[in-house]
Amino acid sequence: KRNTSGFSHSKIILTGEHAVVYGNPAIALPFPLKVEAVIEEVTSGIIVESTFYTGPLEQIPTKLEGIRACIQQVLIALKRPCDKLKITIHSQIPIGKGLGSSAAIAVAIVRGLFSFFETKLDDKTLSAFVHTAEVYAHGSPSGIDMATAMSDTPIWFQNGDIVRLEVTSPLHFVIADSGRIGNTQKSVSRVRALYSNDEVLKADSLRRMKVIAFAAKSAMAKGDIQKLGKLLNENHSELIQIGVSEDGLNHLVNTARSAGALGAKLTGGGDGGCMLALTDSKEKMEEISSTLTSAGAQQTWCFTIEP
Ligand code: PMV
Repeated sequence: KRNTSGFSHSKIILTGEHAVVYGNPAIALPFPLKVEAVIEEVTSGIIVESTFYTGPLEQIPTKLEGIRACIQQVLIALKRPCDKLKITIHSQIPIGKGLGSSAAIAVAIVRGLFSFFETKLDDKTLSAFVHTAEVYAHGSPSGIDMATAMSDTPIWFQNGDIVRLEVTSPLHFVIADSGRIGNTQKSVSRVRALYSNDEVLKADSLRRMKVIAFAAKSAMAKGDIQKLGKLLNENHSELIQIGVSEDGLNHLVNTARSAGALGAKLTGGGDGGCMLALTDSKEKMEEISSTLTSAGAQQTWCFTIEP
């Protein structure tokens, strides 16, 4: 029986989450938790199989409506709306933790379907289909999750424009899951309400986060990881000020800093989800990872971006 797979991966926002929704620049990194979508022929309908839902596409839960819309649009575009298929999703990415699971799953499915029907897929077409899924998942996404799920290198993202970033010295990261599920749509609307009530606060907050993003880009290019660490700390303070951090995340961020991280911050939508810490060596990375586990992190991952 014929089957093909599409792949993608998770993402980490290094700097600029939330501000990116207002057209500020942000830096995001591909993070090696993988998603594979296996496409194969079956005898009836379209079946989705995954850890969160298995069954006919039409009965997919409301939470996954974006995936349904995306699959249906792709099949119409491929002139295969009546084909009988099974789409099996194998994902290593925890959901609702700011790791971009929804975008990565959509990217893997669209890639899988195009490859199953042996049709060439350019980035613009892929983005359009994944955007459909993301609108359901996030309301008005900036597009950074999708852009990173499609990229193999760190990216600079602003208003949909993507620039690949060079890294000149290894960046050793620890990612820790606070154990609480964040709701990006909710935190994004809270920030919108805060900003719309106070134009001065909005302008100042966005200006400071823009300065941080540009400085982080230049620190990455120069390999100045000490400076990059300080900027991550500053970015976390800005995120606290707009109300998207919480005690559990702050506790992990402070623990990482006390354990010798060069810098630490929450990553993604906040209100729970994950934080990241930058370290200067592989040894320090492993050490901080176990310190964070002892401090209550539900799960931690270590990863290095090599130049
Ligand atoms: O999907 P998350 O939780 O990593 O958050 C995405 C980043 C935000 O800037 C908070 C929202 C967006 O659409 O860019």
